[in-house]
Amino acid sequence: MARLTSFVASFVALVAAATSAMATEEASFQKRIVFSPTIVYPTAGTQWKTGQKVNVTWDVSHLPKQLKHAKGTIRLGHIESGNSNEHLANTLADNFLLRTGNVTFTVPKVEQRDDYVVVLFGDSGNHSPKFSIH
Ligand SMILES: *[C@@H]1O[C@H](CO)[C@@H](O)[C@H](O)[C@H]1NC(C)=O
Ligand SMILES: *[C@@H]1O[C@H](CO)[C@@H](O)[C@H](O)[C@H]1NC(C)=O
Repeated sequence: MARLTSFVASFVALVAAATSAMATEEASFQKRIVFSPTIVYPTAGTQWKTGQKVNVTWDVSHLPKQLKHAKGTIRLGHIESGNSNEHLANTLADNFLLRTGNVTFTVPKVEQRDDYVVVLFGDSGNHSPKFSIH
């Protein structure tokens, strides 16, 4: 996700620089505030169970003050080895304030895998290490 986001960002910057007609867009691109918080839980050793109440926790120590009221979404995905696609599927939680640093929800009924990740979307996306749901 980080790779995709920066690819899109470079592409937007290139196009904007090449075309003066896109000057307005370039200006709004530069104003965009990027905050990619590190997810501190779940970690690589985590194992969740369907129906269990769990949380996702992220670092808010660098939250820009402009995002004080920004809301986030957390989605469940999985990453197969040798492939960076996150296969995003279920939304686990949304409409929470990014600044709270954690959100609690119930693990949905999903297939058992050991390569799940959670991705936190605010104004950009960051995924956790791979963990298990059994
Ligand atoms: C999230 O869950 C983990 C594991 O149960 C727990 O150790 C941690 O305190 C929880 N964090 C929050 C913010 O609830
Ligand atoms: C978890 O969120 C609650 C508010 O929902 C907040 O009071 C608490 O400080 C947060 N804990 C962490 C570790 O982010």
